[in-house]
Amino acid sequence: MRVFVAGASGAIGAQLVPQLLEAGHEVTGTFKSPRKAERLHALGAQPVRLDLLDPRAVRKAIVEAEADAVVHQATALAEVRFSRNLDRSFAETNRLRREGTDALLSAAREAGVRRFVAQSYASMRYAREGGPVKTEDDPLDVRPVADMTETFEAMRYLDDAVVAAGGIALRYGNFYGAPNDGLLETVRKRQFPIVGDGGGVASFIHLHDAAAATVLALEHDGPGIYNIVDDDPAPVREWLPVLAEALGAKPPRHFPAWLARLFAGELAVMLGTESRGASNAKAKRELGWTLRYPSWRQGFFDVYAKATPPQAPRTPVPART
Ligand SMILES: NC(=O)c1ccc[n+]([C@@H]2O[C@H](COP(=O)([O-])OP(=O)(O)OC[C@H]3O[C@@H](n4cnc5c(N)ncnc54)[C@H](OP(=O)(O)O)[C@@H]3O)[C@@H](O)[C@H]2O)c1
Repeated sequence: MRVFVAGASGAIGAQLVPQLLEAGHEVTGTFKSPRKAERLHALGAQPVRLDLLDPRAVRKAIVEAEADAVVHQATALAEVRFSRNLDRSFAETNRLRREGTDALLSAAREAGVRRFVAQSYASMRYAREGGPVKTEDDPLDVRPVADMTETFEAMRYLDDAVVAAGGIALRYGNFYGAPNDGLLETVRKRQFPIVGDGGGVASFIHLHDAAAATVLALEHDGPGIYNIVDDDPAPVREWLPVLAEALGAKPPRHFPAWLARLFAGELAVMLGTESRGASNAKAKRELGWTLRYPSWRQGFFDVYAKATPPQAPRTPVPART
């Protein structure tokens, strides 16, 4: 297929473009920042500079690429300074998830594109009730923390629009696998504490495995929603000390919830104590997906350190399938 990847010059694009080529597809990849064309060229994609918030340019690019399939991986978080107000940090990304998705879907429809796959997000989106690990059929959190309402709405908008158009929304876990992953500096500087009992659950995914699932999703009939996460959803009190150790950082600090609320806001308390993780059973079953990095416990060490992980006994979070 001729695959048009919007946002190909980013973290997942670097893994996705080579895997698409290896699967026998031709790739047109878009970038926004100057000087990224070379990088895409080196990966083997046909580079096209594109702002997804310009619908006419999106239409022109997709028509000219004669695309059979479109993958939406555009987000605007690379330069963002994350604050306690997630909606502020995600403002541009939320526009890409609403207006960018609309522009791509409308252009794809007009150009007769057969397959559409888009980046969505799984970790922390599911309702904070019941078990710690959620499937795609479980309800999403309809009462998110105030400073992340628009971000949650934008992700829901993308999921609904893509599925309504017959496409596939991939709810990825927290990405890791690139040397500049978002979390690293805060963990190195001990600015990411364990809050309260540290029971908030997160799901991670290595960029290689996220890209592999994306290639499989393109070859699969929609509509559908899939959690693309590893086998090991885990509470902060488990994954954060392991990440710190893999980075050679000091162990994380512990903050009581009231103190975290005061200094970092409600979002930090929610993530640290209430967030739910996601199950990948559907993606494995329906897409035939297998993971190279089934758990962050090994993956963090493979990516960030030469050391080997400790062989401490683990207390797994029971997964719902
Ligand atoms: N993805 C998430 O939901 C998420 C959530 C939390 C944290 N993070 C962290 O954020 C960092 C990476 O940032 P990222 O996820 O935004 O990915 P990224 O690696 O920067 O890739 C985003 C892609 O979208 C493109 N893009 C940006 N604005 C665009 C626009 N207006 N129109 C078209 N394309 C546009 C970028 O182009 P250029 O490369 O040319 O700019 C790039 O190709 C990582 O550290 C990651 O861990 C990501």
